[in-house]
Amino acid sequence: MSANETPAGGQPTRPQPPTATYDSAFLKACRREPVPHTPVWFMRQAGRSLPEYRKVREGIPMLESCMHPELVTEITLQPVRRHGVDAAIYFSDIVVPLKAIGIDLDIKPGVGPVVEQPIRTRADLDRLRDLTPEDVAYVTEAIGLLTAELGATPLIGFAGAPFTLASYLVEGGPSRNHEHTKALMYGDPQLWADLLDRLAVITSAFLKVQIEAGASAVQLFDSWVGALAPADYRRSVMPASRKVFEAVAGYGVPRIHFGVGTGELLGLMGEAGADVVGVDWRVPLDEAARRVGPGRALQGNLDPAVLFSTPEAVEARTREVLDAAAGLEGHVFNLGHGVLPTTDPDALTRLVEYVHTQTAR
Ligand code: CP3
Repeated sequence: MSANETPAGGQPTRPQPPTATYDSAFLKACRREPVPHTPVWFMRQAGRSLPEYRKVREGIPMLESCMHPELVTEITLQPVRRHGVDAAIYFSDIVVPLKAIGIDLDIKPGVGPVVEQPIRTRADLDRLRDLTPEDVAYVTEAIGLLTAELGATPLIGFAGAPFTLASYLVEGGPSRNHEHTKALMYGDPQLWADLLDRLAVITSAFLKVQIEAGASAVQLFDSWVGALAPADYRRSVMPASRKVFEAVAGYGVPRIHFGVGTGELLGLMGEAGADVVGVDWRVPLDEAARRVGPGRALQGNLDPAVLFSTPEAVEARTREVLDAAAGLEGHVFNLGHGVLPTTDPDALTRLVEYVHTQTAR
């Protein structure tokens, strides 16, 4: 679909991106079109690795910082200014829409999202009401400010996928083994399916808000879904993730799907409806392409820990990623997971420069 066509399927329209944004290397790579250079962005590029981030966040709790449009705009722009990345990612967190519908949760520094009263029974489902655009008016406002500032640089909106959100809600916080989550999934499949469906509806509404405000692509983070066997993913998770992707299909913006430890799930994650499949550092991109199959771009996949090594080692490992990506239909360079908080920001800037010069066509 070209930038000027109305999306099919009766979807409300979104502001048409400027042609320069539509023609950016990032969006072209997502659409598997020829690119002037391999585009680069980093998961968690906006955050604690940047001193300018720590400065503006001083004394402001994480979730509160997500609700101030000017602050969100500043933090989102910081890595674009500093590193020259090819896309911005909206500064927020995957639990923001849950907070916005009244779930009692907080993000504890060094821990992650913590839910006061976990969701484990049918009665608990009633606490997951629908999300309206009014619940997240600050998101619409911030994206308006951002698209005005970003010029040709695309903005990526995002949301947590139903499984990963369910894991936080059911466990009550971060979890290594997801035992309560899996107990519910295996022990009460109907309640589990209803919970994931509720989360799919909320997540779809939240992505629509971001796209209608001007986001040029969206990423669905299913960070913890690698904990599942393929058969369980297909049976118990894929229907909800597919529902989210289908809900936003008509807008024509690229949909990226990412998880960690998902080597065995890559094909299914593509099938769920992604245009771009994110790959962690465990599977080389040429092998990932075989698992995902034709018709989808890939995103990834330098081990974020490589950035703690010497500049020569970073270049060597980056070269390996680019070589493995050489035959792909579309490649967006990224890390295999988010930027680690103690990463040297200069190593990220050098990495962007290296990928750009190595892939200039
Ligand atoms: O990528 C970006 O630059 C955009 C910002 C972003 C944040 N969280 C900001 C954040 C994004 C895309 C997320 C998504 C997110 N949040 C995920 C999916 C991505 C992934 O990492 O797999 C998950 C699982 C979460 C949940 C979460 N939020 C965790 C595990 C943590 C870390 C807790 C800690 O302090 O170690 C958070 C907090 C969080 N989200 C921070 C930031 C910048 C750190 C809080 C701070 O700076 O005080």
